[in-house]
Amino acid sequence: SVIVLDFGSQYTQLIARRIREIGIYSEILPYHTKAEVIKAHQPKAIILSGGPNSVYDEKAFMPDPEVFSLGVPVLGICYGLQAIAKHFGGNVESSSKQEFGRAKMLVSHEEEHESLLFREIPDSDVWMSHGDKVTQLPDGFRVTASTANAEMCAIESFGSKAALKVYGLQFHPEVQHSLYGKQLLSNFLIDIAGITPDWSPKSFIQHQIEEIKRVAGDSTVVCGISGGVDSTVAAVLVSKAIGEKLHCVFVDNGLLRKDESEKVMEFLKPLGLNISLADASDLFLGRLKGVASPEKKRKIIGRTFIQVFEENIHDEKFLVQGTLYPDVIESVSVKGPSEMIKSHHNVGGLPKRMKLKLIEPLRELFKDEVRAVGRELGIAEDILMRHPFPGPGLAVRVLGSLTRERLDVLRDADQIFIDELKSSGLYSKVWQAFSVLLPVQSVGVMGDKRTYENVLALRAVESTDGMTADWAHLPHDFLAKVSNRIINEVRGINRVAYDISSKPPATIEWE
Ligand code: XMP
Repeated sequence: SVIVLDFGSQYTQLIARRIREIGIYSEILPYHTKAEVIKAHQPKAIILSGGPNSVYDEKAFMPDPEVFSLGVPVLGICYGLQAIAKHFGGNVESSSKQEFGRAKMLVSHEEEHESLLFREIPDSDVWMSHGDKVTQLPDGFRVTASTANAEMCAIESFGSKAALKVYGLQFHPEVQHSLYGKQLLSNFLIDIAGITPDWSPKSFIQHQIEEIKRVAGDSTVVCGISGGVDSTVAAVLVSKAIGEKLHCVFVDNGLLRKDESEKVMEFLKPLGLNISLADASDLFLGRLKGVASPEKKRKIIGRTFIQVFEENIHDEKFLVQGTLYPDVIESVSVKGPSEMIKSHHNVGGLPKRMKLKLIEPLRELFKDEVRAVGRELGIAEDILMRHPFPGPGLAVRVLGSLTRERLDVLRDADQIFIDELKSSGLYSKVWQAFSVLLPVQSVGVMGDKRTYENVLALRAVESTDGMTADWAHLPHDFLAKVSNRIINEVRGINRVAYDISSKPPATIEWE
């Protein structure tokens, strides 16, 4: 594998992702990981990420010096380059001209000693984002590329130090704007480090199955399954490893979409999971009756979920969670292991309280990679392409006071919206689509009679990770059809609005 040491760059996960695209497995570890720990991972190459600090800060982040003596090639990116320059005795200075964005890189193609890193890479645009720069080359290094503002834009060990195979880049090869960035990473990993690309969903599954077996041993494991993509893929993966020792609990909190619990149980059945359905809708809805404050709703739901979940488990030692890479706080590892994981909204507090250890087989993956793994596991496309659904369910989509009647109105309307999206081929084109029932009534006229009924908002967004989003520009004719059907078919709604706000400043959900 490849070890990426994280110095806190916003791009660290992108580096991992590019490596994966080249077909190579990578793991991200905190920058301060001891060389012996890194060695135990048997890496074939090490990459030092960028980071927000300066190598001159009093407490500058530096890697264990021994990482340069492990006998594997090292590539430093941005801050990583500066850390290399500092370690080997070069000089780094804060530059009067900070450099952000596109720059033209000139590659020095010395015929006799062409850099392997720049094999087949012409002069081209690269993406910069730095304040400091290397001003004096360490002994035993040479410059292989430069830009107008960063003379030492790429350096590498040379001559007496050539065998160390240490490389540094001032720019970010992992971002799309660095035109030959991926080629460069591939040159480093395949040509220089000699790695054979063999990462695929299939090899990932094999690796995880062994790992889960090793970690879980003979213990039993529990998984809260929601019918969403992530928990389903995580559960199927764990069940491939330990079979019946995995117990899945599906909690029906009464806040699911129309006929959701039947549908979910139906589609999970062929996957061979050992699932118990806990129908706790009365308990949840009883406690939520008349509650309007969003925070109160969330608290009640969180607490009740933990109670129901506890009642449904036995003596399991591990909890499976479908945490994905974007859920793991940005460049976490720099902040230390205790801050590593954002507790999942849905089961927050549970692992600690019950002394459960976590199994998170998907925590290195992005959503599209999870889907690819799911496909390889034989999970149906309908399940894999489902939109995200919030843990507190429709409680965050019925604004104001929560009652069974209002939940039913929302369910009926939402079903029409989603069915229409599916039948017109738009469902898989948007990140997420749903309806929101507003605590507002407005005047209408239906068949000569004045009405005073609810307003429903439709929301559909495009996004790649849910962190930022734009409203989906759905065709007007499509919206007209949905609105017409909802107003005619759902009792209690006489007005439909379409949400045209982006995130930020709005959020995807309405609360
Ligand atoms: P916001 O509304 O913050 O949502 O823009 C971003 C994404 O997160 C989902 N979401 C949740 N998911 N539990 C979840 O599992 C929650 O409490 C929760 N709140 C929001 C939301 O649907 C969107 O995809």
